[in-house]
Order: sequence, then C-alpha cells, then structure tokens
Amino acid sequence: MSIEETVLVVGAGQMGSGIAQVFAQSGYTVLLHDASEKQIHRAISSMTKQLTKRAEKGKLAHQAVRDITQRLAVSTDLKDVQQAHLVIEAASEQMSVKKQIFETLDQFAEEEAIFATNTSSLSITELAAVTSRPEKVIGMHFMNPVPVMKLVEVIRALQTSDD
Ligand SMILES: NC(=O)c1ccc[n+]([C@@H]2O[C@H](COP(=O)([O-])OP(=O)(O)OC[C@H]3O[C@@H](n4cnc5c(N)ncnc54)[C@H](O)[C@@H]3O)[C@@H](O)[C@H]2O)c1
Repeated sequence: MSIEETVLVVGAGQMGSGIAQVFAQSGYTVLLHDASEKQIHRAISSMTKQLTKRAEKGKLAHQAVRDITQRLAVSTDLKDVQQAHLVIEAASEQMSVKKQIFETLDQFAEEEAIFATNTSSLSITELAAVTSRPEKVIGMHFMNPVPVMKLVEVIRALQTSDD
C-alpha cells in the first residue's frame, strides 16, 4: 500500500512539529493540527526560522524552504482528516487524550486511511480498539529531534494487518 499525498499530524508540540517538517521535506502535503491553534502557528514559525537558517548557511536552497513551507497547512478541525491518507498522532502522552482523538478521527477519515501513534509507552492495541479499523492502526515511534534522527520504529498492534 502507498500513501498518496496528504498526511495529517495531530499534536504540534516537540515531536509533531518535527514529524510534520520531515514529511513536508519528503514531498507530502501536511496538515498540522493541535488543540491549541496558537501552538500550530508557533510550530510552523519555528520550523520556517530553522529552515531559513539552514538556507542561509547554504545547506538548503531558498526555493526548497519555500516549497517545504508551502506544503504545510494549518488544521483547526479534526474533520480535516477526510483529506488524509495517513494520520500521525503526536499529542500528549495520555491514553484518554489519544483515545478521544482516535475516536473522532475514525468518524471522519476515509475507510482506507491509516492511523499511526507516536506513543512511547501506551498500548497501541488498546488505542486501536476504539476505532472501527483496528487493522489499520500502527505505532510510528519517531526519535527526538525528528529532523535529525533518521530512524522510526514501526510497531504493530495485535490487530494490525500484515499489509
Ligand atoms: N519528546 C520526546 O522525546 C518523544 C520521543 C518519542 C515519542 N514521544 C511521544 O510523542 C508524543 C508527543 O510528545 P511531545 O514531546 O511532542 O509532547 P508536547 O507536549 O511537546 O506536545 C504535545 C502537543 O499535543 C497537543 N495536544 C494535547 N491534547 C490534544 C488534543 N486533544 N488534540 C490535539 N492536540 C493536543 C498539545 O497542545 C501539545 O502541543 C507523546 O505521545 C510522547 O510520548 C515523545
């Protein structure tokens, strides 16, 4: 299975902003969502500053910075998941918070959309069970700082399909 184009990242904190950056750098359209709209803008602005610094040092083309930032969009409503083929949840490490997010996403997402969580310690099997698509739920555990660490652990829940 391939991820077509659009990725929704839920949670624009330390990890979510790094994950959003890496996907945008890799050519995906990224919708960045957070419970706090201020946090989304803060994340995008700090990402832009960091990329611009790299361009100024000659490590990245200025055009690349423009392309990357143009691929990043603010999402203030989880219903935007309708546009996404992959969701990566990187909200606060609380089961109740993550369950509520997954339940909402499940109501609006395309049948084929894959839900991933960046949790470090919570049960992915338990999270998958609140959705109607437990076979499409996985863990995608990125390392901090995400734009630097070229490693991600992909973790299956008990229900995750082989696909
Ligand atoms: N920080 C790390 O080194 C690290 C490494 C690997 C995995 N993780 C995991 O990544 C996840 C995020 O960690 P972080 O360090 O980025 O946390 P963080 O506190 O920096 O960011 C969490 C963000 O989630 C948002 N949020 C809270 N409730 C929400 C909701 N209902 N809907 C949308 N957004 C909501 C908060 O506003 C905040 O911006 C956690 O599950 C954590 O265990 C963290």
